[in-house]
Amino acid sequence: MILVIHGPNLNLLGVREPDVYGAKTLDDINNDLQQLADQEGIELGIFQSNSEGQIVDKIHDAFQKELEAIVINPAAYTHYSIAIRDALAMLNIPIIEVHLSNIYKREGFRHKSVISPVVTGQIAGLGVDGYLLALKQVIKIINN
Ligand code: DQA
Repeated sequence: MILVIHGPNLNLLGVREPDVYGAKTLDDINNDLQQLADQEGIELGIFQSNSEGQIVDKIHDAFQKELEAIVINPAAYTHYSIAIRDALAMLNIPIIEVHLSNIYKREGFRHKSVISPVVTGQIAGLGVDGYLLALKQVIKIINN
């Protein structure tokens, strides 16, 4: 199984600052991801939470389940959650960090990701396509 994790405020995509994050809702994004997973015959888990602790707990589930890879947009937690970083650092599977917006083009506080040093790679600024590219890439890594 591949797990997609969406962090805080991403439940309001489509409504939330559409000029920055686009018009698609989280359901639209999840449907696109599910469609790709179905085409590839991959089991997909999708999880969104506004709470840091719930995201950490979900990452811990990886120890019980046959988790093959994670695609995660930690949203604002990207910039300061050592707890999410430490939880990801425990895993030995491909992890791709995704941001809809180009965080390096925005306010200074968004330029630092505490998550990046513990993941396989990061995609930022490509909108919804970033999620699809990340999912394609982890599938490619798993199949190799
Ligand atoms: C985000 C970028 C973060 O800085 C921000 O806090 C978000 C979304 C993105 O997808 O561009 O909530 O992760």
